[in-house]
Amino acid sequence: MTRSTGFATRAIHHAYNPLENDGALTPPLHLTSTFSFQTAEAGGEMFAGEREGHIYSRISNPTCDLLERRIATLEGAEAGLALSSGMGAITAVLWTLLSPGDEVIVDKTLYGCTFAFMRHGLAKWGVTITHVDMTDPANLRAAVSEKTRVVYFETPANPNMRLVDIAANAEIAHSVSAQVVVDNTYASPYLTRPIEHGADIVLHSATKYLGGHGDVVAGLVVGNAEQIAEIRLVGMKDMTGAVMAPFNAMLILRGLKTLNLRMDRHCASARVVADFLEAHPAVETVYFPGLESFAQRNIAQLQMSQPGAMIAFEIKSGLSAGITLMNGLNMIQRAVSLGDAETLIQHPASMTHSTYTPEERAEHGISDGLIRLSVGLEDVEDILADLEQALPYPARSAT
Ligand SMILES: Cc1ncc(COP(=O)(O)O)c(C=O)c1O
Repeated sequence: MTRSTGFATRAIHHAYNPLENDGALTPPLHLTSTFSFQTAEAGGEMFAGEREGHIYSRISNPTCDLLERRIATLEGAEAGLALSSGMGAITAVLWTLLSPGDEVIVDKTLYGCTFAFMRHGLAKWGVTITHVDMTDPANLRAAVSEKTRVVYFETPANPNMRLVDIAANAEIAHSVSAQVVVDNTYASPYLTRPIEHGADIVLHSATKYLGGHGDVVAGLVVGNAEQIAEIRLVGMKDMTGAVMAPFNAMLILRGLKTLNLRMDRHCASARVVADFLEAHPAVETVYFPGLESFAQRNIAQLQMSQPGAMIAFEIKSGLSAGITLMNGLNMIQRAVSLGDAETLIQHPASMTHSTYTPEERAEHGISDGLIRLSVGLEDVEDILADLEQALPYPARSAT
């Protein structure tokens, strides 16, 4: 009887045997743009899709191929695709799925560049973008029609931590044969596997937790084999050219080997930091799925094995106090991105979400005072100490 192996084992071993590769423990890096054909006929057959094999690295490459197999097994999908960035993944998927006249229904809150791509990119080509508050599936039910080709959301959403019930919304999307595309960047497959809850396509900014070390920009997509083949040949090869470099695939493969360990540590520290912030007199509100006060805690329990390591919060005296906090930090870095070993802090309204107008931010639930914290892997006492010394006034009285 074969036993299916665990998450960490697959992240380390899946689809690679050193003994088939000169004993090399670490998979080889295939730094090649093109591949030689055995014969001219064999090359022609590969182009015609009648024979397997690599043709050119804008279509496939063995190092990227290994990463694609690993992310597919970790997400519980049939197939994967490696792209140059998270935005490369998002654009390649949507350019493949959509045609003029189609409608995409998206949640209210999206990462800033995803919002801009939809609002200012896709909309230019005759695709209708409809924003719906998917925190209540009844809103999606009221909005879907036969024109709805794609239902797209992030959970947790960047930057305000809203959660979307994947199963409930997927069922409604499927009732009109729409494809459900989930951006799983914040959770990673270690915490949430959207395909198990009914999603069709899952994508990542692999720049974040999957890479995990802040040294690479990359994107990944998983889905069924037919869809992934289409996204590879249409969205990636022809429409965006957003192919992942083999060296970057190696960095992500290395990152995946420690994903579960890093996520456990990120999540444990984030719980401590969220409690600290919630108890601090200078902090108005903390948005973190692990807190009792988090309105959608039940959805976190449904589909996340841990509440993650991203925290959003607001300071009592508003944005100016938030800026003072950020400027007063010593160890925590003022930087966008997330999921790195370093704890990172940023101000969405003026940074990652400045692609929204102020009116759009108000409409989409991104307040001007919101601060986003990506809890890193440093000693949690040091993260707390840095926050405490920089917060406008101390948590404990000085007596
Ligand atoms: C949730 C989410 N999706 C997608 C992206 C885009 O990814 P990339 O920067 O790798 O293009 C980001 C980037 O911050 C993100 O936070």
